[in-house]
Amino acid sequence: MRSVAFNNTLRGLSRAGSRFQPTTLPRIAAARAYSTPAESQYEFIQVSEPRPGVGQVTLNRPKALNALSTPLITELNAALLSFQQSPTIRAIVLTGSERAFAAGADIKEMAPLTFSKAFLDSFIESWSNLTFTVKKPIIGAVSGHALGGGCELALMTDIIYCTKTANFGQPEIKLGTIPGAGGSQRLTRAVGKSKAMELILTGKSFSGEEAERWGVAARAFDSYEELMEGALKTAETIAGYSKVAVQAAKEVVNKSQEVGLRDGVEYERRMFHALFGSQDQKIGMKAFAEKGKAKWVDE
Ligand code: CAA
Repeated sequence: MRSVAFNNTLRGLSRAGSRFQPTTLPRIAAARAYSTPAESQYEFIQVSEPRPGVGQVTLNRPKALNALSTPLITELNAALLSFQQSPTIRAIVLTGSERAFAAGADIKEMAPLTFSKAFLDSFIESWSNLTFTVKKPIIGAVSGHALGGGCELALMTDIIYCTKTANFGQPEIKLGTIPGAGGSQRLTRAVGKSKAMELILTGKSFSGEEAERWGVAARAFDSYEELMEGALKTAETIAGYSKVAVQAAKEVVNKSQEVGLRDGVEYERRMFHALFGSQDQKIGMKAFAEKGKAKWVDE
């Protein structure tokens, strides 16, 4: 059952949606930094559209270093769903503050939980909505602490950008528990078993510089300002391509994380074949041949 807050948010989103005109990116004149009606209902996040075609969610619970409480995750899911449904948003940036992307799941919320409550309520399961419902690319822009669930949330995004001094880690072992939002699986895929084992068993942090070197992050920047500019620029670049091709590209890369090589290559080839049925493939290749600029129709 959806919470009242979630339903209110969705009502706000459908009002916001009526302002969106189905259009392709080249026709968007300028970036809008506006407050959607839904945003005013958010307590723990901020939502904006800082560049054409780019939606940004900023975690905003500064006093708790963006600790990921259930109400925060509910808002995050609602905002991401609205970006997914928006015809104008084509890429998403998920970020926190300069001091903290997120310092983990909310320890104060978790402390009194019992096994049966966590089990029966499927505690933390809704965090994965991000990975299942959002088909548009998400760039995680990480500055400061990305610990425990914060590290796991970053690992759920499609591309991680960070500052060199960002502080990643899975410190759950120090709390007498283990990662619970995919850290043992995604971090292991990113850095290999031995390094993941060391990080998870010791709870030691690793820097943004190391994250880039190990392939956890695509890029590490010298400053917070450069990080945000880099993330928005990449999101804007992605937003300039065909929605159909972008969604297909995200899907085939993600498939590589779940299936063996042979099945993955087969899946990619089928998707590649399918794109010959899209108008944007014809538009893109014709524009190349005619030395023109493709005007995507997202079909
Ligand atoms: N949950 C709840 N509150 C948190 C929090 C968290 N994960 N992390 C920080 N806070 C709160 C602190 O309690 C403090 O609140 P008060 O001012 O009310 O005391 C406030 O944020 C500021 O934190 P600090 O004073 O500790 O700030 P600092 O700069 O000295 O230290 C820190 C920063 C190293 C990140 C430290 O806050 C810390 O170690 N936080 C916990 C990190 C952690 O263990 N995360 C994993 C959580 S478990 C998990 O995420 C499970 C999972 O896999 C899903």
